Amino acid sequence: MADLKEQLKEHEGLATIYGEAMAGIGAASTAEALEEARVAHLGRKSPLSVLLRSIPELPAEERPVVGRLGNQVRAALEQELAAKKGEIESSELVRRLAGEQVDITLPGEPFPRGHLHLINQTLWEIEDVFTGLGYRIADGPEIETDYYNFTALNTPEGHPARSSHDTFFIEGQPDVLLRTHTSPVQIRVMEKEEPPVYIIAPGRVYRRDSDATHTPMFHQIEGLAVDRNITMGDLKGTLETFAKAIFGADREIRMRPHFFPFTEPSVEIDVSCMICGGAGCRSCKHSGWLEILGAGMVDPNVYGFVGYDPDEVQGFAFGMGVERIAMLKHGMTDLRMFYDNDLRFIKQF
Ligand code: PHE
Repeated sequence: MADLKEQLKEHEGLATIYGEAMAGIGAASTAEALEEARVAHLGRKSPLSVLLRSIPELPAEERPVVGRLGNQVRAALEQELAAKKGEIESSELVRRLAGEQVDITLPGEPFPRGHLHLINQTLWEIEDVFTGLGYRIADGPEIETDYYNFTALNTPEGHPARSSHDTFFIEGQPDVLLRTHTSPVQIRVMEKEEPPVYIIAPGRVYRRDSDATHTPMFHQIEGLAVDRNITMGDLKGTLETFAKAIFGADREIRMRPHFFPFTEPSVEIDVSCMICGGAGCRSCKHSGWLEILGAGMVDPNVYGFVGYDPDEVQGFAFGMGVERIAMLKHGMTDLRMFYDNDLRFIKQF
């Protein structure tokens, strides 16, 4: 190289071409700039190529000098270009690797942490109360037959109680429906198991109904206790324990006569208003009481459907709406909010 520079003293034009080309290649710091430098200094229109092409027209004494040195200059520039190319490629790789590097010391992206929906919180809370009293959790299908939803619950075809249920039927299957309550689980459990039976059955139920206090799908928890010598006192004591556990130790309950086809006698159970303490307010419509569930002693006819002997066993059953319990507990007025999926609502609980 030093040798070439020395020799280039013989031809000032080539020396200039060489110097400028070396400087141009040396200044390129990206692959694109290097390609531009290659075209400028070694391309067909570059001063070097133009000079080499013009050899035949040069004065005779200059020709051999330019011929010999010109090709050496070209070879030296090509070598420099290749070296520079390698340099750029490796520095680009280094840069890319640095850019892709993961900084493990950076704090992580916060991962939003959810929680149980208020309905599930309430379900779990109620389940805890009853499992604590020795009840087991039972399950049944949401798509039911007419037999389990009505007939075996002492509600024969044509019974007026059927029409109050606003049932969703499956098209083309008059005996198949979406269960309107969790009571069919009573029948399914008693068919399979001998008494004593102590179960609760939580789950979704469906009714063709929609307003501020009704959605077409909602949740119920059924309860069933069948044993020897079960009385209405047991029913009242059990549900009082439940009401105090969920609504507060100073709550009281009362029973009002009611009708259900599968219990006799049947009652509705009210809890003393947790807002006014029973004195009367807007929430309890100034009565001091709020209705929380339906219940009663299992009708002997029901035992007939499951093969239990009504002279041997007695029992009680109850059924409550989970949405209603949650609304009373949290002072909500519109049940549809449970299912609007508005996080501003859901996050409050
Ligand atoms: N299944 C009744 C309803 O949905 C509630 C209930 C259950 C009543 C058990 C009495 C006994 O209205």
